[in-house]
Amino acid sequence: MKDNINQLIKPITTTVNSIGHLEIGGCDLVELAKEYKTPLYVIDEATLRGVCKSYREAFSDYEHVKFLYASKALCTSAITKILDDEEFGFDVVSDGELYTVYRTGVDMKKILFNGNNKSVDELKMAIDLEIGRISVDNFLELATLDKIADLKKKKVDILLRITPGIECHTHEYIQTGHLDSKFGFDMMQIDMAVDLIQNQYKNLNLKGLHAHTGSQIFETKVYCDEIEILINELVRIKKKFNIELKEINIGGGLGVRYTIHDNPPSVHDIAASIINSVKTHCEELNYPYPLIYLEPGRSIISTAGTTLYTVGSKKQVPNGRKYVSVDGGMADNPRPSLYQAEYTAQVANKANKDKNEKVTIAGRYCESGDILLNEIKMPKLEAGDILCVYNTGAYNYSMSSNYNRTSKPAMVLVNSGQSDIIVNRETLEDIIRNDVIPSRLR
Ligand code: LLP
Repeated sequence: MKDNINQLIKPITTTVNSIGHLEIGGCDLVELAKEYKTPLYVIDEATLRGVCKSYREAFSDYEHVKFLYASKALCTSAITKILDDEEFGFDVVSDGELYTVYRTGVDMKKILFNGNNKSVDELKMAIDLEIGRISVDNFLELATLDKIADLKKKKVDILLRITPGIECHTHEYIQTGHLDSKFGFDMMQIDMAVDLIQNQYKNLNLKGLHAHTGSQIFETKVYCDEIEILINELVRIKKKFNIELKEINIGGGLGVRYTIHDNPPSVHDIAASIINSVKTHCEELNYPYPLIYLEPGRSIISTAGTTLYTVGSKKQVPNGRKYVSVDGGMADNPRPSLYQAEYTAQVANKANKDKNEKVTIAGRYCESGDILLNEIKMPKLEAGDILCVYNTGAYNYSMSSNYNRTSKPAMVLVNSGQSDIIVNRETLEDIIRNDVIPSRLR
């Protein structure tokens, strides 16, 4: 069970109780909706910890591996605390993510900073906090980082982010490793970067190479191809520059199961392919096994998350679709409108009822494109029903907005019948908190 959580649509603790209500983490979802209001993000701690354990177990045969949770998938203080407790480090891409992990008390040596345009202030913050690694993305950043490190009299351990030229079959917007990408050094630029680090940028310590090919990946081969390229580069760099780099970061990307049509490999499957690939190439080329960093985001947190909504108005278009509107939508989950992402939903208070109506679940936002689920089979829906949408742990809250000046939902953590708020619902005061009316307008 633990090994394949990313292949499940629902959290591992999902059940139907004696009154026909859905439960997650031992909590009745209808009761959660009553207590905390909707929309509500619900995170199942057992599912989250289960995935972490499966990563640790799946890689237990390879001594040199480090997991860096890609915070961009969902970064809050409580989630950070759990991941830290599960022995994960963190991939951060902004001062906000870095600040969150820092304030949660994470050992800064377990942090890696990624991004194609980190600001000078962010680089300074990273150096001041003495984080573990910075993945340098381009020539300007190499020069800037060296200058800041020099001023601060610090040495900085870096990886070079490269673009391996691998196209994975995922949505164009979430592919990153193909050649014409905004991320990383082109393969042809690696030597120049290494040469600069060796001969000019004395405050930078090159530790290894980093690549990330994309997200929601369903093919293990993508990782094998990437590893082959990275190890070939290590060997080439050793020959040409006489530096033996000891680390490769292969990024994140493992897919999850949003609907029955998605068939991602399990954590165990990708672990076996990754380890096999690293060992084979290293042995063939007589190169020592490197330390492997992995940066999974979606596969860690997606399945643990469920969003609850309350059903409101309905509309039957004559000769058209039947729309059922809920109290959330594109502001708490922009993925359907951004990527045509599909989800699976159930009605928390009608879990045992037959699904004999075809409906389109519309969000509440003022855009026709704000559709959460298109033409799905549901039991007959009435105002007040609680709709739960599965697999919303990753890239939902983290990409949420206050569109239409709505408040961002609360988030609760559930475990063994207990529920705890981990993000407060925004209030109307929060909505205007940063507004300023210049005195000349008063
Ligand atoms: N490492 C790097 C350098 C990345 O750019 C990403 C994701 C990850 C790791 C984590 O990838 P994951 O394991 O989560 O697939 N907003 C999009 C996903 C964007 C992913 C961006 N980079 C979505 O909602 O599908």
